Parts: sequence; C-alpha cells; structure tokens
Amino acid sequence: MNYLENKLQEQTPTLQEQEKLKNIVSAIASDIDAICKTEGIDATPLEVGSVSKGTNLKSSDIDLFITFSRSYPVEYIEKKGLEIGHAVLENAIEKYAEHPYVSGSVSGIKIDIVPAFRINEGERIVSSVDRTPLHTIYVKSRTDSKMVHDIRLLKVFLKEINVYGSEVAKSGFSGYICEIAIIAFGTFEKFIQYMANLKGKLIVPENCDKEFNEPVIIIDPVDPTRNAGAAVSVENLSKLKLAAKLYVTRREDILFNPEPVIKYDRKTIMKAFVLKKPDIIDDIIYPQAVRLKNRIWDIFQKSGFMPFSSELYMGENIEILIEYMRNKLPDAQKHMGPPAESNESIKFIDAWKGNSRLMRGPYIIGDRIYVDTKPRYTELEEIIKIELEKSDIGKNLNQYKGEIKVVSGKDVDKLNVAKKFYSKYLF
Ligand code: UTP
Ligand code: MN
Repeated sequence: MNYLENKLQEQTPTLQEQEKLKNIVSAIASDIDAICKTEGIDATPLEVGSVSKGTNLKSSDIDLFITFSRSYPVEYIEKKGLEIGHAVLENAIEKYAEHPYVSGSVSGIKIDIVPAFRINEGERIVSSVDRTPLHTIYVKSRTDSKMVHDIRLLKVFLKEINVYGSEVAKSGFSGYICEIAIIAFGTFEKFIQYMANLKGKLIVPENCDKEFNEPVIIIDPVDPTRNAGAAVSVENLSKLKLAAKLYVTRREDILFNPEPVIKYDRKTIMKAFVLKKPDIIDDIIYPQAVRLKNRIWDIFQKSGFMPFSSELYMGENIEILIEYMRNKLPDAQKHMGPPAESNESIKFIDAWKGNSRLMRGPYIIGDRIYVDTKPRYTELEEIIKIELEKSDIGKNLNQYKGEIKVVSGKDVDKLNVAKKFYSKYLF
C-alpha cells in the first residue's frame, strides 16, 4: 500500500469509533431537545460538519448546532445558545467567532455547540454559520462512498503538507473546500492532476465569472456570493501546487521525507522580540502578531539595519525573529528628499539649513535632492523602543508594547522561533 493510503487508514475512524461518535451526538441532541421542549423554545439540535457527512478523520471534532426559529432576535439565540450549551456539556468553555458558542469535550472527543438560525435554501442568512446546515445537505446529496474516501484522502494529503485548516494562523484549506473540490473534480487523482499543472489562482468552478481578490476562489455552492476559499494564503496554495507536482511525478522522496538543512552557525546577526501572548483566541491575536512583526521589520529597514529574513512563532509567547546585516549605524546616512522640480525642494533645503545633523549636501542625484545626515539614534534597541511606542500594533497587543523582551546573540537559538526558522523546509 502506498504512503498516503497507509496514512488514510491510520486516520480513518474505525466502525467502533464512528459508533461512539453517533452515541455521543444522539445523547447530547436528545438533552438539547428535552430542554427546548420543557422551556417551549422553538429550536432543534442538528448534527453538521464532517461527522454528519462521513468525511471525518480521527482528529475531527463533532459539530452540533442548535437551530432556532428565525422569529427570535439574534441576542436571544446567542444567550439561549450558550445557556443550553453549558447545560448539556460539562466543563465547556465559551468561544467567539461571529457569535459566541460553547466548546468542550466528551470522552476525549472535541465538540462545539453552536446556535444558528434555521434557514431554507435560498433564504437570506443572518450570520455565516447559518449556511453550515445547507453544506451538510449539499455534500450528502452529491457524494458516494468512493468520493467520501477521496475527501478523506485529500484531507490527509493536505495535513501531510501542513496546509489543512482554516484557522487564521494556518490560513489553509478547510474541510468544506476538500468536499467541494472532490465533488467538482470527481476524484482525488483528478484534482491533484489539475493542481499539478495549475498556473495562478485556483478557481472553482473554472468558468466562474465572480470577482474575488483572494488567490483561492471556491464558490460556495449553497451561496454563490461567498468565496469558501477566502482564508487560503498564497503560500499555502503554492505548497499545494508544488506538492501536487511531486505527487504526480512520484517524488515521494521529497514530498514525504522532509530533510531540512539545519546549520546554526550562519555568522549573521539576529535579534528576537518576545512577549507573552494575551489570553485571547489565536484567530484574533495572530493578525496582530503579524502586524507587530511587519512593524519591527520596517523599523529595521528604515533605520538602516538591513533586515533580510524574519520568522514568527506563536505558542505561549509571541516570538519574532529578525536576521539582519548591520549591527551599528554609521555616522552618515543617505536621506532622500523631494524631486528637484517639485515645489517641496526649497522647503527641504531650508529645513536642513544649519541643522547640526547635516553631514553633507544637499546635493542632487538624478532628479532628486539628497542630504547625508547623522542619524538621530544609533542604538538599535533604543530605536525599536521609540518607534514601537509611536506605532499602533493592534487592539489587544498595544498595551503590552512596553513589555517586549529583546533577546540577542546565542540566546536567540534557544527560542522556539529559532527552531522554526532553522528547520524551514518546503512544507
Ligand atoms: P469544521 O471546521 O469543524 O470543518 O467546520 P469540518 O468540515 O467539520 O472538517 P473537520 O473534519 O472537522 O476538520 C464545520 C462546518 O462549518 C462550515 C462547514 O460547513 C463545515 O463542515 N465551515 C467551517 C465553513 O464553511 N468554512 C470554514 O472555513 C469552516
Ligand atoms: Mn468538524
């Protein structure tokens, strides 16, 4: 048996495991039903997600919805949804997507209980989770057992190359995209063959004329105004294209055998910036961490320290690594002014006249005026501190700006972000 089929067998739930999932679902569903009946709430439990479609892997969660009548206000179903969720699921915690829901586990299986409105096909949705039950109907009505097999195979393949999951920090392919792809292309082999030759964006269906900006455009069959592939990053699309090429040319040696070259002594300079990750869900913090990384990169760049690579790691802490070329700034820096022909040019000359930081000029190169100046600050850490103070790095991170720890020299190598940086490999 080949490598992938082997992995698939490892990750496909056994009949007993499927039975166990079914029992958990029906027990909780009947608890929800009972509460709704007693309290006279017009709502019903509904199993959705991969378990309901038979496309789940061992690692999949149970997705259980409570679908409320559309006559209730959103605030009511949010409040009742949480209340019922806690009542039927011990030790559950509250999470927040577009709306709050509860998440917990029963005998080791993760389970989400999500309130939504009961929507019929064609009816206007209130929030994006309202589409989810329609996904279940769509997928179940268009798949046979061979396709279900291929959907699972595709999920396993994407997991192997690290691009499965639509969480913000992953920006990969969701389970639902796998289902749409197999339904659209017929088989795993056909889809991978297509990906191996694809240039540019992935667009499904191919002849779709909708305008979306994202690199992956997968029209949601139950709602053609939505791009179900919006979360996929261009990097992850590139990984899938390359992996597909390796798969069709039978280069398992590269595809399934990561062999990163790890050489610590690069004789470059690195600094890392470390702060504690606030206790807020990753989907919200991650974009802010990316913004902080980009901001620090810009400060290195603008002040002349010449950064050339960076890495971000998010675990208990947020760790940002910058590798750069220059440790000390020289006394003179080239500073570009406006085009000579513009009306700003005289202002620029006046502004530098008699300034004690002026080292040379003003002079003209090409069509612009320049001056050489002594930098205001020359110490990197001081510059970073001052510049970050002025920057907006996001609602939840701004308050921790003052607590960023700077790590230098050999200590950088001990961090998780360094491990991630050195072991960087295709997938
Ligand atoms: P899940 O993330 O649990 O996905 O979302 P899944 O299909 O069950 O796959 P696995 O096996 O657990 O990884 C549950 C449902 O929410 C909708 C889909 O209908 C999905 O089946 N959903 C979720 C989306 O439409 N898009 C997303 O990005 C995530
Ligand atoms: Mn799921």
